[in-house]
Amino acid sequence: MYFCFCRLPLAFVALFTMWGSARGEELPADQTISFSSQVAPILQTRCVACHGEKLAESDYRMDSFAALVANTSSDQPAVLASDAKNSELYQRLIHQDEDLRMPSEAAALPEEEIELIRRWIEQGAVFDGDSRDTLLTNLLPVHNHPAAPRKYRASIPISALAVLGDENRIYVGGYHEITVWNTAGELLSRIGNQGERTYSIEPDPTGKWLLSASGTPGIMGEVRIFDLASGKMHAVVTRTDEVILDAQYSPDGKRIAVAFPNGVVDIYNAETLTKEVTLLGHSDQVTSVHWHTDSNRLGTTSRDNAAKIYDANTGRSISTFAGHSACVNSLAFLDGNDVITVSDDGKAIIWSAADGRKNREVISGSMSLLDVARFDRHYWITSTQGAQQFEIGSHRRLVQLQSEGDWVTTVAKNKLPDLRIFGLHSGELIVRQGEQEMPRILTRP
Ligand code: HEC
Repeated sequence: MYFCFCRLPLAFVALFTMWGSARGEELPADQTISFSSQVAPILQTRCVACHGEKLAESDYRMDSFAALVANTSSDQPAVLASDAKNSELYQRLIHQDEDLRMPSEAAALPEEEIELIRRWIEQGAVFDGDSRDTLLTNLLPVHNHPAAPRKYRASIPISALAVLGDENRIYVGGYHEITVWNTAGELLSRIGNQGERTYSIEPDPTGKWLLSASGTPGIMGEVRIFDLASGKMHAVVTRTDEVILDAQYSPDGKRIAVAFPNGVVDIYNAETLTKEVTLLGHSDQVTSVHWHTDSNRLGTTSRDNAAKIYDANTGRSISTFAGHSACVNSLAFLDGNDVITVSDDGKAIIWSAADGRKNREVISGSMSLLDVARFDRHYWITSTQGAQQFEIGSHRRLVQLQSEGDWVTTVAKNKLPDLRIFGLHSGELIVRQGEQEMPRILTRP
């Protein structure tokens, strides 16, 4: 994956400010205020940008309930149950001195929102979520994404692609949807309710669920699970304030690894969707995650130019490869301890998962290498200039696929022995059945 993001926190604040104030309707006097669905959306959109993980003004974080009720640096507690007047958080909303009033350097909250927060505190500042440590973004009510356009005016570059088990169904990331095609190029169905762009699509090993990572650059990112049979949303695994580029089921189907924009990788229980392990060590956006077939190890790549191997059970970092000089886009486990990574620096490098030591370079060129996937006894590498197939072991090049100047952004990681499907920047699919290339499919409804 090759996406380059500039962060747009202002767009984020502006967009959700509108949403925030639209909800300040008249409140019946006896209504119980819900923290999760009424207070958290205001704090998330108006406060967390300056009081969160990346930026914690005055060391005060508000990105979870546990953090926002913890002490502030002042003598007053941040939130004193049943006593808004002596709660620093409330005081800051109504402060006469504009330099001290929150949100800092912005208009005060609308009166209805301030009143809502006051009443929530007066009613006892009750927490109505599951865990006090859950990020506020994950407490917010789930909302439906805008509907996909019925007909597209332009093609969408393919950034996510999957082929399901033994059926020839091809799932492609579209605009606010996933489109489903067969190898003859017919549109079979459309799965809506996705973020603006989809960055990874992954069926679970039983073929019952479809996992998608999607988002809108600078605004939001999300991982959702869909019921494959009905196309309906089943659950939201997690949400954050920047796009999520990858989410993958472990081969045994028991866990889900999610690549976060802040460099963190979290592993969730696939059934309960609770977070089990957090993997630390990357300092910038994680671009991809890859489970070893043993479901115990996880390989990760990042915009910090590094790739890492973790013990997925303990979260311990096993090895780090720092030999690339640009964003690392993808990784594949080969035989034994061999791992291959591909990067925007034009290199495909084989190194050892045990100690991070470099073995050899398979490609060293001027184009960006975008994806790599292992199949039985060979692997494919895709790039801004086509795709190449190599033999495992000898690393001999077997096939060179021309894409006529089009970027081959990704290759489907399916298990079908003869079917290889490549996604292009133009929105087309190249389907190879054995040695034969079938007519290209334009994935544009
Ligand atoms: C643009 C950045 C920004 C935003 C948005 C913002 N704050 Fe602040 N906040 C600050 C800064 C800077 C300070 C430290 C200076 C000060 O104490 O006034 C601060 C301090 C605080 C403190 C005092 C913490 C302490 O330890 O003393 C509280 C409470 C607080 N903010 C609450 C809020 C609330 C509630 C919101 C949302 C309605 C919010 N802030 C939004 C920048 C921000």
